[in-house]
Order: sequence, then C-alpha cells, then structure tokens
Amino acid sequence: MVKICCIGAGYVGGPTMAVIALKCPSVEVAVVDISVPRITAWNNVEKHVCEADIVFLSVNTPTKTRGLGAGKAADLTYWESAACMIADVSKSDKIVVEKSTVPVKTVEAIERILTHNSNNGINFQILSNPEFLAKGTAIENLFKPDRVLIGGSETPGGQKAIQVLKDVYTQWVPEDCIITTNLWSAELSKLAANAFLAQRISSVNAMSALCEATGANVSEVSYVIGKDSRIRPKFLNASVGFGGSCFQKDILNLVYICECNGLRELAEYWKQVIKINDYQKIRFVNRVVASMFNTVSGKKVAILGFAFKKDIGDTRETPAIDVCKGLLGDKAKLSIYDPQVNEDQIQRDLAMKKFDWDHPLHLQPMSPTGVKQISVVWDAYTTTKDAHAV
Ligand code: NAI
Repeated sequence: MVKICCIGAGYVGGPTMAVIALKCPSVEVAVVDISVPRITAWNNVEKHVCEADIVFLSVNTPTKTRGLGAGKAADLTYWESAACMIADVSKSDKIVVEKSTVPVKTVEAIERILTHNSNNGINFQILSNPEFLAKGTAIENLFKPDRVLIGGSETPGGQKAIQVLKDVYTQWVPEDCIITTNLWSAELSKLAANAFLAQRISSVNAMSALCEATGANVSEVSYVIGKDSRIRPKFLNASVGFGGSCFQKDILNLVYICECNGLRELAEYWKQVIKINDYQKIRFVNRVVASMFNTVSGKKVAILGFAFKKDIGDTRETPAIDVCKGLLGDKAKLSIYDPQVNEDQIQRDLAMKKFDWDHPLHLQPMSPTGVKQISVVWDAYTTTKDAHAV
C-alpha cells in the first residue's frame, strides 16, 4: 500500500487529498497542518510524514512582505520549515511532491534542504505537481482536470518517481490528460498559466476603459473577440478587476524571476497586468464618486458581495477591499452584505495591510477596524435600504 502525507490542509491540500483518498482506495492519505484550528481536525504531523511514501507539500507561498524581493518574491518560510521537518523525521525513502506554487528552481532548494538535513542514506525524489484547481469549483476540477502536470528529474530515479505519482492519478484521470515534463517546465508552467489568465482579464478591463471613453459596449466587444476560435470566450468579462490568492502573487513572482534573470523588459511587461488591475479598481471608485457629485462623504453605499468571486467565502485579494477602502477614504458609509462572508472577516480584511492575509502566523486575533463607517448586515434589503448607491 502506498502512503501519502500532505503538508498543508488549506484550499489546495484539503480537497486534493480528499479526492485522492476517494479515488484511490488502496492509498492511505494523511493531511497535516500547523494552524491550530485546522490542526485539531487533521493533525499528527511527524508520524504521518515519517510513515508516508509520498509527501505532498501544499503549504502557502505568500508574497514576501519584508527583506530582499519584498512585494514581489515568494516567501518560502512555510515551505522551508516543512522541508526541514520532512528531513528531520524521515527514516525511509520518499517522493516529495511540490504542490504549492513556487518560483522556478525551488526544487533545487528543497533537494538541498532534504539532503543536508536528513540522516544519511535516505533517497528523496522530488516532483513538481502544481495544482490548477479554481476556487468555487475545486472538487469538480479535481475530478475532471483539464490536465495533471508532473515534472521530475530526467534521471532513472526521477522517471520512476513520476510513474509512482502517475499511478495515483490514473486511477481517475485519463492518461492522455497527464503531462510529464522536466522539473523547471512544470514549475514555470503554473506561473505562466496564471499570468496568461490574469493577462486576459487585464486586457479586457483595459478595453472597458476605452469602451467607456468612446461609447462602445465592452460586453459586445468581448463577445465579438471571444467568438474567434483562436481566442475563445472564457476570462473575457470586464469587471472591477481580478482577485484571489493566486493571480497577483504568482505574477509578482514571475516578475521577480524575470528581474533576477536580467530580463527587465519581460518584468515590465508582466508587471503591467497588475498595474492595469489596480488601475481598474481605482477607476471604478473614481467613477462611483464622480457620479455622485464628486463626493460620497456621509452617503450610504451598499456593497453586495465581498468575496472575490461568486459562490465562495474566500476574500483574499478581493477587489471589494480596494473598492471599500477607496470609498471609505472619501468618507462614505458602507453597508456590506455577502451571504458567504462573516462580519469578523470583513472587518479584518478592511483593517489588514496588503499581503498580510497570506501569512497565517502574522494573523493573531485582531481588533476590528473600529471604523463606524462600516456596517455588515445579513440581508440584501437592509443593505440597500436608503442607500445612495448600490
Ligand atoms: P492555504 O493558506 O489555504 O493553506 C496552506 C496551509 O499550509 C495553511 O493551513 C498553513 O497553516 C499550512 N502550513 C504552512 N506551513 C506549514 C508547515 N510547515 N507544516 C504544516 N502546515 C503548514 O493555501 P492554499 O490556497 O491551499 O494554497 C497552497 C499553495 O497552492 C500555494 O502555493 C498556492 O499558490 C497554491 N495554489 C492555490 C490555489 C487556490 O485556488 N487556492 C490553486 C492552485 C495552487
């Protein structure tokens, strides 16, 4: 029997391992985490890591908030401490699967950590198996992925490890959906895929500004563009901007990698995707304020929906935060309703500094904003009653 241990019981680790456990009755799956609320449900870290044949690393890889590369590079603190722990407790050979989204060449770093810190004689094979699931459709995406990507080293040991992981996935994923590559291609493909998706959103949002200026209708324009079989319609809806835990972080990471490799023009190119996204949020706030005689001071503005997309309670990097902060800056009174997000979360998000949300260890209980301008209510009608704007 193959034993799998996944480090990180978050949005990726939890559902991915649940699906592997469901689809592979002969595989024993354990999920471990350092977060106290999550730990009680899942934990027994060292025992499971020690016993596992395959260890998935699904820990968070936030954007660095201080030091070298702050605001761009990935913070690999969580990830490094998990690797050290694997090295400490391992007594048998293991395949270590990098599930988190990481900068290119991270495998090299993990390899060094594992070989330098472990007892001699243990063989670690490291694979890159980035996750492509989307929030809100995680289980659906895991059941029927567009592709499963496995990168491994080109040595016989690396190829054997790829085959072991492939055998897990082929229990429910058709073999032709499983792509195997070298390690660096797998690591870079994940960042590149997110950058391409986000770039489409920024492109259509950039077009929306031009449509507003010229009298064109962006929905009509994007419909026409999407009918081109080379372009297709997905990710072409104009909006207040993209949000979520991954797009911005992964593009910043890509930008940093370009800079580190002396590719300044490429870094500028990808940075523009984020700049347009920020511009779109500011532009939206400005239009709201402008349409209300250039001031929202003291006016009630109803906000319907706070999470970064429909059907989820995840507020990480939601554009709602920037929009609310922009309106609060002009002294609006906000009345917020989202059936999936509780008041504590909203108050916390509006009080938090950028990027802090993805650092669970920084997230001590925090007093709410204390801003009297914000009320969070539990039905849409109360939210919108007597509002100047919705
Ligand atoms: P998350 O923050 O929900 O979960 C990560 C978990 O790892 C947290 O519960 C944290 O406490 C735990 N952790 C951190 N260090 C640990 C350690 N040393 N030992 C044990 N547990 C530890 O993050 P999420 O969303 O699951 O993302 C994980 C990775 O997957 C990130 O690299 C992300 O970029 C990537 N990803 C996320 C997707 C998403 O939709 N959320 C989609 C595809 C990839």
